[in-house]
Amino acid sequence: MSTHQNLKVAVLLGSTRDGRFGPVVADWLLGHLKARGDMTADLVDLKTTPLPTVMPSFGGELPPEEIELLGAVSPRLEAADAFVVVTPEYNHSFPAALKNAIDWHNHQWHAKPVGFVSYGGLSGGLRAVEQLRVVMAELNAVTIRNTVSFHGAAQSFDEHGRPRDPAADAAADALLDQLDWWARGLRVARQARPFAA
Ligand SMILES: Cc1cc2nc3c(=O)[nH]c(=O)nc-3n(C[C@H](O)[C@H](O)[C@H](O)COP(=O)(O)O)c2cc1C
Repeated sequence: MSTHQNLKVAVLLGSTRDGRFGPVVADWLLGHLKARGDMTADLVDLKTTPLPTVMPSFGGELPPEEIELLGAVSPRLEAADAFVVVTPEYNHSFPAALKNAIDWHNHQWHAKPVGFVSYGGLSGGLRAVEQLRVVMAELNAVTIRNTVSFHGAAQSFDEHGRPRDPAADAAADALLDQLDWWARGLRVARQARPFAA
């Protein structure tokens, strides 16, 4: 596969709360992804495509309804070259639905880059992101240094869903540039030599 082929970027929206703010942040990020022209975005919204919360015993079989739920998410993570996680901060961490989605998968994360866009109350979601870095390291993913964070999230965007501070747009582009570098390099590396976990 050419290194010039569009990157497939799965954007995981980790907030599933009724009345959530998350879609505003995710839509803004998707606008940046689409504007590049070298990335194809796939929004994986854990509210509209929820995953089971009870796992089978080791080696146990999944009931058909759980297979169906996973079927709406897992192939999309598998196909992705890279991920951006859009996460709020809940109690100094990231939401349970997001951890559940991460835990249902393993090889889908391997040797792929993960960027973070976070938001929250006072913190801007920074503690959620630091915890996600530790989790993703266990899954052999590479986390991207640059992030975008919004503290006081609801007040940080105007009525058109645009950040009030243009620095956020520059930060998103910098994040995506770093994601692009890692994703293209790792895609070539995975093709040259399957990742050995
Ligand atoms: C259960 C819960 C816990 C929260 N804990 C924190 C927190 O620890 N730090 C923080 O800055 N904001 C915290 N917040 C505020 C949220 O990050 C903020 O309201 C954000 O917009 C929630 O995202 P959502 O609207 O997409 O669900 C919390 C909100 C909820 C619902």
